[in-house]
Amino acid sequence: MSLLITGATGHLGRLVVEQLLAAGVPAGDIIATGRATEKIKDLADRGVQVRAVDFGDQAAVRAAVADADRVLLVSALDPGGRVAQHGAVIDAARAAGVSLLAYTSIVNAETATIRLAEDHQATERLLRDSGVPHVLLRNGWYHENYTDRLPAFLAQGVIPGSAGEGRISAAARADYAAAAVRVLTTDGHAGQAYELGGGQPFTLAQLAAEISAQSGKEIQYADLPEAEYASALKAHGMPDEFAIMVAETDVAAAHGALHTASGDLAALTGRPATTLSAAVAAALSALDQSQAAPGND
Ligand SMILES: NC(=O)c1ccc[n+]([C@@H]2O[C@H](COP(=O)([O-])OP(=O)(O)OC[C@H]3O[C@@H](n4cnc5c(N)ncnc54)[C@H](OP(=O)(O)O)[C@@H]3O)[C@@H](O)[C@H]2O)c1
Repeated sequence: MSLLITGATGHLGRLVVEQLLAAGVPAGDIIATGRATEKIKDLADRGVQVRAVDFGDQAAVRAAVADADRVLLVSALDPGGRVAQHGAVIDAARAAGVSLLAYTSIVNAETATIRLAEDHQATERLLRDSGVPHVLLRNGWYHENYTDRLPAFLAQGVIPGSAGEGRISAAARADYAAAAVRVLTTDGHAGQAYELGGGQPFTLAQLAAEISAQSGKEIQYADLPEAEYASALKAHGMPDEFAIMVAETDVAAAHGALHTASGDLAALTGRPATTLSAAVAAALSALDQSQAAPGND
């Protein structure tokens, strides 16, 4: 059975391919797609079928998907524009008669009122209308959204945000990848919508306390007005529109937008999701190693 993964040149899709291989799926049954396929040459060397596909090129999408049995559509990046891009993959999946399309949506997609959720809601509607058997992987926030910013948090002693006391059910990308692997490699998921998030939600003040405890450096959470937080993100190089959406999402998180009480993630993967403590420990250790690497002294 051939499994096609979009976004395999990105973080989540690559983890899915690695986990499929680790689970014993034959490399030749995996079709890894993305634009920047030079990033996954190593997967081709291991026997994975690598196909360069830009969602904007409908003919290329159709050709790539034509022989796939199941497809993982990893949501694209371009706010607004990505609905049409997702639509191209859904059309191709319908034309190919795939038996399952799994889509990485956003947690609480049904009730969300944030702009970040609009593309996911529109894509979920396209899927419903398409007739393609599908499963919704409504992913919560990644730990990596925070741990990737550890150097800045440590340098400034501050985690900026607008999430107040909102509890965030984050998990590691690897956990969400494991859930995707599960739906791609087992039966009975068509028609399901899984709300995916870690089992130990945390506030950003708790995140600051965890980093402080593990690093030995005092880190405070600074709750900022939305516009101020968006400006801080822009000042750190985030594109304007994205910074505005992230700040807006943080404000919504104060009211539970990124929280789920669902146990779907652990149920799908068969194990508890990565804890915040483990995620911070791994990120601090990776930082230590990169600082100790030759050329960094
Ligand atoms: N839950 C969260 O906290 C969270 C956080 C950030 C993002 N997300 C969403 O989750 C997705 C996966 O996360 P990630 O960390 O793996 O992101 P990522 O590393 O940026 O990967 C995004 C992938 O999408 C592909 N892509 C984008 N536009 C495309 C197009 N027009 N045609 C074909 N492929 C295209 C990219 O391909 P190339 O690199 O080859 O161009 C890349 O492989 C993101 O794209 C975003 O929608 C979720």
